[in-house]
Amino acid sequence: MLVNATRMLKLAKAGHYAVGQININNLEWTKAVLETAQKLNSPVILGVSAGAAKYMGGFKVVADMVRAMDECLGITVPVALHLDHGTYEAAKTCIEVGFTSIMFDGSSLPLEENIAKTKELVALAHDKGLSIEAEVGAIGGTEDGVTADGEVADPKECAKMVELGIDFLAAGIGNIHGLYPAGWKGLHFDALDEINKATGNIPLVLHGGTGIPDDQITHAIKDGVSKINVNTECQLVFAGAVEEYCKAGKATPTAENTAKGYDPRKLLKPGVEAIKAKVEEKMVLFGSVGKAC
Ligand code: 13P
Repeated sequence: MLVNATRMLKLAKAGHYAVGQININNLEWTKAVLETAQKLNSPVILGVSAGAAKYMGGFKVVADMVRAMDECLGITVPVALHLDHGTYEAAKTCIEVGFTSIMFDGSSLPLEENIAKTKELVALAHDKGLSIEAEVGAIGGTEDGVTADGEVADPKECAKMVELGIDFLAAGIGNIHGLYPAGWKGLHFDALDEINKATGNIPLVLHGGTGIPDDQITHAIKDGVSKINVNTECQLVFAGAVEEYCKAGKATPTAENTAKGYDPRKLLKPGVEAIKAKVEEKMVLFGSVGKAC
């Protein structure tokens, strides 16, 4: 059931668990995540970056595919289709083509411009029933080829952003996208505490969910994080499982190997199973299992 993410994240904040945003990259990924959420009776957020949308043929292709798949698979758990790190233009497109949630990432803009654009997008999104996430303090690391250092957001700037009527806030607390470098100092829980106090009851978002130790994840949830984004970890297990399959010679047509393991449905299956297992692991860790309502 496609819905915006406001209610599921309010419930998560009140219930001290988090909903996973799992980024999707293709049809197989989408199906794996939806089926796992349904199996575990968990709400889920499907994250779509501009790069992934371009790969799949555009935001409209993604919206139509997800809507049709949700319906045809008979998914009854709440599913939000969410633009991940959108520009102003991408956010407007997603509002038009049927996403149920957007993130406007104006973190690279001067604060005043970030605020003005966020304000405008809040009105547009809410007018059409979408939820909206905004960001303060750039989340570092590498995403879609862009690399930045991790930042710790200023609680006063966070409070300013929340006043604009956004539904949830991504605030940097030393987290970064992609793999964490050796010597990474961990999440800044003192900063999280201050941000949580400064922003009232708004659900907070932790980007860069890959590679954060489990005890830090549960600590972050306890301190007000209600949405955790995971992308790289699913990519890694997918690639690893398909690579193993190929290395075992299963995709190679030989006189002995007549199983047609090169059929994409067979070739990608180990990757799909690996994503399902990873998403299940995350939903258990985040505490969202059985929380669909
Ligand atoms: P990872 O790729 O580090 O899991 O982060 C995903 C993310 O934050 C998407 O916005």
